[in-house]
Amino acid sequence: MDRKNMIIAIDGYSSCGKSTVAKALAKHLNYVYIDSGAMYRAVTLYFIQNDIDHQQPDQVAKALTEIHIEIHTERGANKYFLNGTVVNDDIREMRVSELVSEVSAIKAVRTAMVAQQKRMGANKNIVMDGRDIGTAVFPNAQIKIFMTADPQIRAERRYKELQNAGKMITIEEVIANLAYRDHQDTTRKESPLTKADDAVVLDTSSMNQQEQLEFVLNEVKNASKPL
Ligand code: DC
Repeated sequence: MDRKNMIIAIDGYSSCGKSTVAKALAKHLNYVYIDSGAMYRAVTLYFIQNDIDHQQPDQVAKALTEIHIEIHTERGANKYFLNGTVVNDDIREMRVSELVSEVSAIKAVRTAMVAQQKRMGANKNIVMDGRDIGTAVFPNAQIKIFMTADPQIRAERRYKELQNAGKMITIEEVIANLAYRDHQDTTRKESPLTKADDAVVLDTSSMNQQEQLEFVLNEVKNASKPL
């Protein structure tokens, strides 16, 4: 496939391996990878750092004019910039995870992020992961995957990740945060997390990363077959 507008949309619940498989896939296919969740996290970080009350529409609207998010790929890894500063680590902090579902439920925030995501995907081959990529950002994506996994397994994976990153957190806190985010993401009014009708479900509960990558590559291969 040497076209310049192939879009692979990977949506699903928090911590079921979306970004790992999306990154591996983008590397394998030499596509651009965009983690849309990182963008919502960057907005949330800005709100925290600048004492923006996300329940005040005026404050949110003003903040959105001040927020500038960029993604650069350096030596195969994405760097997420918030107003010129790399925020890859800061956006993973628990204080951001605790607030990001509320911030990402705000219509003005979604409108701004979705517009930027659409621009980022124009005339490129991309893999983008998130919650609404196949339903709202790129409803015409050629390939749509909806990832899910057992909640306990997701919590254990996330807990390990946070521990490896040196974060002090209990498994109970991780379980509570995931349950809270699942609830917020699936019940919010604006673009709730839902499977696109034409998405393929990938349940990663008992699959390792290589198996997940092969599953998606197989979907790509099938989609590339001439009709
Ligand atoms: O993928 P993640 O867990 O880093 O995403 C953080 C939050 O951002 C998640 O709780 C929901 C929100 N999000 C969203 O609403 N839409 C997206 N396309 C991506 C993430």
